[in-house]
Amino acid sequence: MTKTTSFQMDIRPLFTERDIQGMSRAFNLRSYDDVKKHAGAIYDRIRGIGGAVMPPPPPKGEGPWQQSRIELFAKWMADGFQP
Ligand code: HEM
Repeated sequence: MTKTTSFQMDIRPLFTERDIQGMSRAFNLRSYDDVKKHAGAIYDRIRGIGGAVMPPPPPKGEGPWQQSRIELFAKWMADGFQP
């Protein structure tokens, strides 16, 4: 079993300043509570489910995440949303 993930160590660093600013009208990607609350929808959109893939490709964003990052986000959910 690999180590437990946490928001502060593993998830928060995945979001760039651009991501945080770009999504600030909907939720705060800096905030544990907000990311936990919207985790299901975020997990869908980083896989391009339910709408345009997030982050958007250039010039709007830095483009879709690598599979390994998507899996890290899934593991954080499976680990029980550790802060
Ligand atoms: C529930 C999940 C999400 C929804 C419904 C959502 C929805 C949207 C929408 C509607 C836009 C505007 C697109 C446009 O202007 O054409 C947008 C922009 C953007 N989103 Fe998301 N998003 C989600 C999650 C995320 C996540 C997790 C990230 C980063 C990892 C992200 C990064 C961005 C960026 C960088 C932009 C561009 C902002 C700009 O135009 O400057 N989004 N998102």
